[in-house]
Amino acid sequence: MTDAIKGNKQSCRINRESEITEGRKIEHILICLSKDVIAKEKTTGLEDVEFVHVSLPEINKTDVDTSIKLLGHELAAPIVIAAMTGGHPKAAKINATLAEAAQKLNIAMGVGSQRAALEDSSLEYTYSIAREKAPDILLIGNIGAPQILEENRIENIRKIIEMIDADAVAIHLNALQEAIQPEGEATFKGVVSAIKDIVEKIEVPIIAKETGAGFAREEARSLEKIGVKAIDVGGTGGTSWAAVETYRAESRGMHFAASIGKTFWDWGIPTTISTIETAFFTNNIEIIATGGVRTGLDAAKLISLGANAVGISLPLLKPAYEGKVEKLIQILQKVIEELKIAMFLVGASKIDDLKKADIIIMGRTAEWLKARGFDVTIFANRRKQQMEKIK
Ligand SMILES: Cc1cc2nc3c(=O)[nH]c(=O)nc-3n(C[C@H](O)[C@H](O)[C@H](O)COP(=O)(O)O)c2cc1C
Repeated sequence: MTDAIKGNKQSCRINRESEITEGRKIEHILICLSKDVIAKEKTTGLEDVEFVHVSLPEINKTDVDTSIKLLGHELAAPIVIAAMTGGHPKAAKINATLAEAAQKLNIAMGVGSQRAALEDSSLEYTYSIAREKAPDILLIGNIGAPQILEENRIENIRKIIEMIDADAVAIHLNALQEAIQPEGEATFKGVVSAIKDIVEKIEVPIIAKETGAGFAREEARSLEKIGVKAIDVGGTGGTSWAAVETYRAESRGMHFAASIGKTFWDWGIPTTISTIETAFFTNNIEIIATGGVRTGLDAAKLISLGANAVGISLPLLKPAYEGKVEKLIQILQKVIEELKIAMFLVGASKIDDLKKADIIIMGRTAEWLKARGFDVTIFANRRKQQMEKIK
């Protein structure tokens, strides 16, 4: 075979791969917009968690300050618009709309997997538009674990940083989805050393991000040891990628894959548990609690249990798809207002004060944590411990 033919074959293969990635991206969006993709029997565990109300908060609601520092960046509220998309013309509009809202509110945002643009550079604009619309925010790049196993990973990570002027890069771990997806790449051997290599050679902070199955403390510890700066817990209870892949398989008449998808629909560690496991068994890692976060009260609970910030995806997808910036801002402002109210009601004027509030963990969540050797009464009696210290 001549070099020219080889070259042509290679470029056809790359084009075909990028078309497949591009097509899959839009299919995922349309499924998430039209089907019920939420976990069925399992929840985030947030319904098992309740703050102890403080009738004498000794602060004014106007004293409440939701600002934080995340990965060295000042945010007006501890909220990340969690990674969703890119790689398709429609995704450009979604990213532009999300970014406009993030810039207005000074919150963080992640773009979706940038694999499509690595395969076809003409798609770069679908991601870089986020930086154009949000020049000042903490903007997070994204790539999947199977893609970092390739030898040119450092070059690729540099490309995805440059594409959006990324302040951090999330490496998403989606073993569940890859295992169920008929064309999935369930290749995770060597991912830890690949992440270590990236952490050592890349200047921006690296985030390890699950996509709906959560992290246990053991993996959190391994990631901390190799220098990962943040974990996005991506816990169970929100969008289920087994669900999304089940619908995709059904729409193609792939009944075998669809039926397996149903079996694993609810697989994973609920967001509440994953937040506690990752936050309490690491010391120098920031935690973003994502997966089924829907209100500011959810955010307050997860921060009280150890998260630094929360991530939200699915509820933002429809207004972003429709290009409705004002609607998005409204949804996010409601979350921020609810967070402020929860803070006021436990006497927390700063975000960090939420971690001193008394919070009760009950039901299945408590059972799970007990089985893992965790004493849930610690959370319920934090003010008592404080009082005993003073006495
Ligand atoms: C349409 C859609 C596309 C997504 N694509 C990505 C992705 O490319 N990379 C990633 O790390 N996570 C991706 N996610 C996962 C989200 O970042 C988030 O972890 C998950 O949806 C749970 O949050 P939620 O319950 O608020 O949706 C996607 C989610 C949605 C809804």
